[in-house]
Parts: sequence; structure tokens; C-alpha cells
Amino acid sequence: MEFGLICGQEKRIIRVHMIGETLQIGLVGLGTVGSGVYEALLRNRSLLEARAQISYAVRKIAVRDKSKARDVVIEEGELTDDWRDLVNDEKIDIIIELIGGTTEALKLVRGALEAGKPVVTGNKALLAEYGAELFRLSQSKGVPLYIEASCGGGIPIVQSLQNSLICNRVDSIVGIINGTSNYVLTSMEKSHISFEAALDQAAKKGYAEADSTLDINGWDAAHKGLILAMLAYGTPLDLNAISVSGIEDVQPADFEFAHRLGYTIKLLVVIKRHEEEGTLELRVQPSFVPLDHLLAKVDGVFNAIAVRGDIVGETIFYGRGAGKNPTSSAVLGDVVLAMRECRLLNYHSGFHPYAKETAVLPARETVTPYYVRFRVRDQHGVIADIAAAFARFSIGISATSSQEGETTQTGEPWTHLVFILHACKLGQLGSALEQIEKLDSVVSEPVVFRIETFRES
Ligand SMILES: NC(=O)c1ccc[n+]([C@@H]2O[C@H](COP(=O)([O-])OP(=O)(O)OC[C@H]3O[C@@H](n4cnc5c(N)ncnc54)[C@H](OP(=O)(O)O)[C@@H]3O)[C@@H](O)[C@H]2O)c1
Repeated sequence: MEFGLICGQEKRIIRVHMIGETLQIGLVGLGTVGSGVYEALLRNRSLLEARAQISYAVRKIAVRDKSKARDVVIEEGELTDDWRDLVNDEKIDIIIELIGGTTEALKLVRGALEAGKPVVTGNKALLAEYGAELFRLSQSKGVPLYIEASCGGGIPIVQSLQNSLICNRVDSIVGIINGTSNYVLTSMEKSHISFEAALDQAAKKGYAEADSTLDINGWDAAHKGLILAMLAYGTPLDLNAISVSGIEDVQPADFEFAHRLGYTIKLLVVIKRHEEEGTLELRVQPSFVPLDHLLAKVDGVFNAIAVRGDIVGETIFYGRGAGKNPTSSAVLGDVVLAMRECRLLNYHSGFHPYAKETAVLPARETVTPYYVRFRVRDQHGVIADIAAAFARFSIGISATSSQEGETTQTGEPWTHLVFILHACKLGQLGSALEQIEKLDSVVSEPVVFRIETFRES
């Protein structure tokens, strides 16, 4: 049943489903996740229909190449190679976008929202780049956009932030939200192998894509971090303001130092509210995590997200952050939510920006303790020279450690020298490192990891 509503200058058509009507689904993309969603829609139909209290049918599926062999059996006439066939089909009520990328997917999501069709998507790259625009469109059209699968695969983090934790001011979100990089780091740690060997192993086991650049360089985690920050703080954010570094520089020696000091190394997304300054800290880096913190125990392809709210305290969400079935579970959670909300006239739980625009704290202003590893010539006075440079920038040292290396190209012996530094601004550390790098005794650029401190509740 359709209602015409006058909203300001605009007339909106709101479709309301009555009990007994069959909701028509359009699925775009039948790859890893799309095929999982299709299979689950068929396999768990009676369960889903009973729980959602609405019946559904998959009316059309769009793919890029219709002639491709598929594992799933598709009904005659269901398949098209033009997603516009779904957007323009008046009978389709909900669109599931699972094609990835930001060009066609942007056109598709815009087109579906403009046509009044709620969209379910897992496309974090699209949301990180165009989320603010798409949510504005969703808001202005009164047509929801559901995004559970975009962060943390099967972990129900989006709906938790939107619903279960809604009464909380979120103090921080700290998470391991890229399974490939976590698998690589875990293999380096447990099997004492190099970064390259661990990445190779991940690819052989199907845990790394042919092009795993965004997983390794931290940008996939940054996309997800930006989405979580928008949801938690109600403000659109600029992707370019995020400070991002990946795991390429982590070496087996760093794990040895980390263990000696009571830490492990994880690629973390860190999101923190700085109430007084009115800014948000949002960064992705390999970080030292205390061995007794739950996040230190998240191994392999698993993800975990710790959310600290002012009322709930610390919560931790753990599960598979990617893959066909876990991600399908998140997509289908949204599909059921969409089906339920199709019955309500003017409510949906998508992203409603409610806060004034918030700046991301510049990386140089962020404060943490640090682990800094230098390769130095094994010569007298080197520790004192480095310590003096830190002192000039008022940076305190809490520990040092060393480990013999091999020899430089000129045959001189070199040593790994590690400094654990008290909390200071990244800008302060950068200035000190600039001076230290000029020391004759320092052989190569220092490797810097942040040490994350998790506040006690
Ligand atoms: N894979 C995961 O574990 C995971 C986890 C979380 C989120 N996601 C997100 O889910 C989305 C899908 O990922 P995926 O791994 O399932 O991708 P995928 O395996 O590469 O599948 C992409 C599908 O989209 C179809 N497609 C591509 N361009 C199209 C177009 N212009 N029109 C119609 N169909 C088109 C492809 O058709 P053909 O089959 O004909 O080539 C294919 O079926 C991405 O946004 C991804 O970031 C994935």
C-alpha cells in the first residue's frame, strides 16, 4: 500500500507493507557475500519469515557477467546484468548492494534511494567516501540505508551502536577490524616468520585477497573506523583527516621486544572523544597492546571491537570479521530490519547526524606512550646520545632494551635498540626523531609503534 506525504515542498511516496504481503527483494552482486546471502535467504526462509512476520521473495538478481558459472541455482528470468532493471522495477521493495567499489555502487545506491527503495549494503569503501552524502539523501527521501555488514563482518556492532548502546556517550572505540592483517601479525608472532612469509601463508589459506593492499596498509580498517566514528558521534567525518599506517614495517624482532615488555602487536583502530577540545581522535596503526587485555588474545582472522560507554562501561564484541557466511549474517540482519521497518511510516534506524560537525584531532596532537626501535652502530655512547635528544624535547624514557643484529653493508656490527617512551604528543616525538636520525650512530629510520593504554573502569 502506498501513501503520499507532503514533506516541505516535496511529496514523498511511502510504501507500507501490510501483514500478508510478500516483500520483493532485489539482490545486486552474487560473489562471495551475495551468494551467501542468496543461499541463506533460501535455506532459512521459514525461520526468517516467522521472525520478521513478513514473507519475502528474491525477485531479481544483478551480476556483471550473466554467463559466469555459479555455485547457486538461479530461477529462469531472475538474472540480469543491469542493476537498473532492479532499481526501475516498481515491484522491488528492497535493494541489497553487494558489488563493492565506489563508482557503480554509488550510482546504484543513489538511484535506489531516489526510487524510494531501502538499501542494505556492506560496502565500507563506498560509505567511508560517500556515506555522509548518501545518508543525507536517505534522510531527505525518508528511505533507509542499512550498513551492518560494512564493519566487523558477522559482529553486530552497527546495530549495537544504533540501538542497544544508544543511551551511552561513547568514550572510546578500540578495535581489531581487519582479519587479513590480524592473521599476518598472529602468524609472525606464533610462527616467528617474516611479514612476507606470513602474507604468503594468508593468501594460500584464502585469508588475503590477490590485492591485499588496503588490508595491509591500514585503509580498510580506516574505512570501517570512520563508519563506526560517524555512528558513535553523530557527525560526518573526513576520510583524509584520519592518520593511518599499516603493518608493513612490523618485524619478528618487534614481537620479541614486545613480549619482553608484556605486550603484543595489533593493528588497531582507535577512536576517542576529546570532550573539552570538541575533537575526535581517529587513527589506525600497529600498536602495542598489553598481553593481559582481551584484545591481545584476538588471533588469526578474528576481529574484536571494544566500546566504552559512559553508562555501560567497557563492552567487547568478538567474531569473524569477514567471509561469506559471517558477512551474510550481518546483511540478513539488516534485511529483516528493513522488512520490519517497511511497516512503519517514518522511522528507521539508519545514520541520523545529530551532532555539530566535529574535527578530527590532528595526528601530531595525539598522545600515547611509544615503542621506538632503532638500528644503531654498536658503539660507545649511542644510548646516551639518543636519550639526550629525547630529553631536549621533554620526552621521558621508561625502559630500554637491545638485541644484537647482524652487520651493516660496510661490515660494522649493528644492534636493535628499543626505547619505551612516556606519553607525549606525536609532534613532539617527530621533532626528537628528526634530530636522532641525523646521529652518525643511527643506521636507518626508526620504527615507531604506539602503546595503547586501556583505562580501568
Ligand atoms: N568478502 C567479504 O568477506 C566481505 C566482508 C564485508 C564486506 N564485504 C563487502 O561486500 C561487498 C561484496 O564483496 P564480495 O567479496 O562479495 O565481492 P565479490 O566476490 O567480488 O563479488 C562481487 C559481485 O558483484 C558483481 N558485480 C560487480 N560489478 C557489478 C555491476 N556493475 N553490476 C552488477 N553486478 C556487479 C559481480 O558479478 P560477477 O559475479 O558477474 O563478476 C559479483 O557477483 C563489497 O562491498 C565488500 O567490501 C565483503
